[in-house]
Amino acid sequence: MSDIPVLQIGKYKPRYPLIQGGMGVDISGPNLAGHVAALGAIGTIASVGLAHNSPLFVPEKHNYFEANEVVVKEAVQKAKSIAGPGGIIAVNCMVALTDYDRQVKAAAEGGADIIISGAGLPLRLPDYTKDFPDVALVPIVSSAKAASLITRHWEKKYNRLPDAFVVEEPATAGGHLGATTIEQVYDPALRLENALPEVVKYVADEMKSDIPVIAAGGIWDKGDLERVFALGAKGVQMGTRFACTFEGDASDRFKQAYIDAKEEDVVLIHSPAGLPGRAIKNPFVAKYLEGSVESKPCFANCLTHCRYRKTKETFCIAAALVDAQVGNWETGLFFCGSNVVKAHKIEHVKDIIAELFE
Ligand SMILES: Cc1cc2nc3c(=O)[nH]c(=O)nc-3n(C[C@H](O)[C@H](O)[C@H](O)COP(=O)(O)O)c2cc1C
Repeated sequence: MSDIPVLQIGKYKPRYPLIQGGMGVDISGPNLAGHVAALGAIGTIASVGLAHNSPLFVPEKHNYFEANEVVVKEAVQKAKSIAGPGGIIAVNCMVALTDYDRQVKAAAEGGADIIISGAGLPLRLPDYTKDFPDVALVPIVSSAKAASLITRHWEKKYNRLPDAFVVEEPATAGGHLGATTIEQVYDPALRLENALPEVVKYVADEMKSDIPVIAAGGIWDKGDLERVFALGAKGVQMGTRFACTFEGDASDRFKQAYIDAKEEDVVLIHSPAGLPGRAIKNPFVAKYLEGSVESKPCFANCLTHCRYRKTKETFCIAAALVDAQVGNWETGLFFCGSNVVKAHKIEHVKDIIAELFE
C-alpha cells in the first residue's frame, strides 16, 4: 500500500494504524488484545462481563460489579505483560452498562492507555478518567451529529476534547449497532462513505483539530483499508476478523461457528438493550426470532435499560453471550459482523497484520 497513514491517539502512536475492536463477552480478552499490541497495532479488551468465569464472582453474594472491577484491572495488566514494552492496550467500555463508570475507572487504574466507548453517548467519560490525564478517550459514533454533541458537552463541562473518533457503520459491523431501529441500520447516511467524510470534515472545520478519525465496520482486507483511507480515515478498527484467530479469547466452538456461517445465517435482532444487533442465526436466535425463546435468569443487572429485566421480554443477554463464548451452540448469542462469511479458517494475528500492511 502506498500511503499508510500515521495514527496518533493522544500520546500513543502504534506502528500500524489498526485497532482490534473490543468484543464482548470475552471474545477480545487479554490474550487477543495483548498479542495484537505486541505486534504493533492497538489491542482492545472488551470490559463487559469479564467476571463471568472468575472465582471472584459468587452469584449468591451478588458481587458481580465488584468482581468485574478487579477482573478488568487484572485483564489490562495481563494484556500489557503479553504486549511487552510499548504495547498499546485499549479497553472498550459500553455506556449502556450499569457499572460503566466503575469499569472505566478500573480500566484506567489497571493501566489502560486508551478507553474506547460507544453503545450510547459517552458524555461523562472525562469525569471518570479525570485522575488519569494520559488515558486517551475515544468515542464511537455513527454520525457527525453525535461527534458534535459529545465534543460540545466535553468542552463545556470538562474542558477536554476527544483524542479520536471511531466511526462505526451499522450496515456491516458486529455486536450492538449504532442505530435506533433495524430499518436505520441500512440508512445510507450512516454508511462509511457518507458518515466518515462528514466526521472528518467536522473535526477539521468545526473542531479545527487534527485528531484522527478511525473507520469501523466491514473492514477485512487491504482493499477495504485503501477504501477508507481514501475517505479520510487515519486508521481502522476491525472486529470480526480478529474474533476468529488462534489468539482470540473465545472457545474453538465460537470460532467454528464463524467458519460455518453463510450469508443467510447472518441476521439482525432487537437486543434486550434496545439496540439492533447482528448475530449468527443459530437455534437460540432462530427461536428468539420466532418468539419462542427461553431465557436463562438475569444474573447481574448488567444493563441500565434491559427489556428482559423490566418486562421479561427478550432474554438475558449476558447469559447468552457467555454461552456463545464458551461454545454452547444451542443457547448462545453469537454476535458477528457481516464479514463473518469471509472467515474460512482460524488465523494467526501476525498473519492478518502482515497481509494488511506488509
Ligand atoms: C462478537 C463481537 C462482539 C462485539 N462487542 C462489542 C463491545 O462489547 N463493545 C463495542 O463497542 N463493540 C463491540 N463490537 C464491535 C467491534 O468492536 C467492531 O467495532 C466492529 O465489529 C467492526 O466491524 P467488523 O466486525 O466488520 O470489523 C463487537 C463485535 C463483535 C463481532
